[in-house]
Amino acid sequence: MSSGPWVLRSLLFVPGNRPDMIAKAGRYGADALILDLEDGVAPEEKARACQVVAGALEAGIPGSPIVFLRVNGSGSGLLARDLREAFRPGTAALCLPKCETPEEVVMLDASLRALEFQHRLPGGGTRILPMVEGARGVVQAAAIAASHARVCGLAFGAEDYTADLGVRRTRQGAEIAYPRAAVSVAAHAAGVDAVDGIYADFRDTDGLRADTGAARALGYTGKMLIHPAQVGPVHAAFAPEAAEVEQARRIVAAFEAAGGSGIVVVDGAMVDRPVVLRAQRTLAIASRPAVDRERD
Ligand code: COA
Ligand code: MG
Repeated sequence: MSSGPWVLRSLLFVPGNRPDMIAKAGRYGADALILDLEDGVAPEEKARACQVVAGALEAGIPGSPIVFLRVNGSGSGLLARDLREAFRPGTAALCLPKCETPEEVVMLDASLRALEFQHRLPGGGTRILPMVEGARGVVQAAAIAASHARVCGLAFGAEDYTADLGVRRTRQGAEIAYPRAAVSVAAHAAGVDAVDGIYADFRDTDGLRADTGAARALGYTGKMLIHPAQVGPVHAAFAPEAAEVEQARRIVAAFEAAGGSGIVVVDGAMVDRPVVLRAQRTLAIASRPAVDRERD
């Protein structure tokens, strides 16, 4: 298991039946696009969405973004068609919604092996991002995350989760505190990325910032988005604050000056190995490109 060969803070959903949106989607600076065949597409549009997505992948999407494809789930009866009709080279990963068991991932691996052979792609190269968005999925999250080497992360979907439990979705989010934390812990235990679900109110930037901050505090390093305007605030929310970076620099410098072992004191506080590891991680994240501007 490993996270993908990428750092993904923002994964922008683009409805698979919207060639106009797909053509422009590479401009917005999202780390990845998720071309959607599932709940972002009305049932009567799904067959056409497969054709649109296949055509876009064959032609190549301007800006050469990393492309994920969200297929319909294992229980939908639509998954085989989605794979046959929409999967094309250029699909970095499949997003598997409403995942409840590790067996679903294992079955998807078998389908992918056949597709990769058919399309003359290197075997095993296509990754899988299972979405945990129901009670059964939460209970199985650790097994799902560890089910296959293709798994690059676990995504938590709060909207479907609350629908599954029949509970209200509140701004405070007490109803998702446990599953959201559990999915992050399961992802980290397997060494894969924790990806938070969408923030639906796409005009509410302050709310998005707070929501992303809450996800980050639980160990999430990426978030699914539904609108281009969400890219900038999400990248900013995942970026370490200047004071945090400065402190991390001091911690790493003091630790190295002390010979790289033992305990040192920085700003009056004890610094030992876990603190240094956190500081090094902060510096690694901070050295990534800053908030992206819109690409032309
Ligand atoms: N991907 C790519 N482009 C998008 C986009 C998306 N998810 N959402 C909006 N845009 C584009 C629009 O096409 C528009 O482009 P244009 O100005 O060049 O014509 C621009 O961004 C501004 O869009 P705006 O008018 O503010 O939004 P809208 O009212 O057209 O669309 C939504 C609002 C929510 C319908 C739209 O953002 C959307 O479809 N999001 C994805 C929803 C989805 O996939 N849900 C399933 C996963 S949960
Ligand atoms: Mg969902």
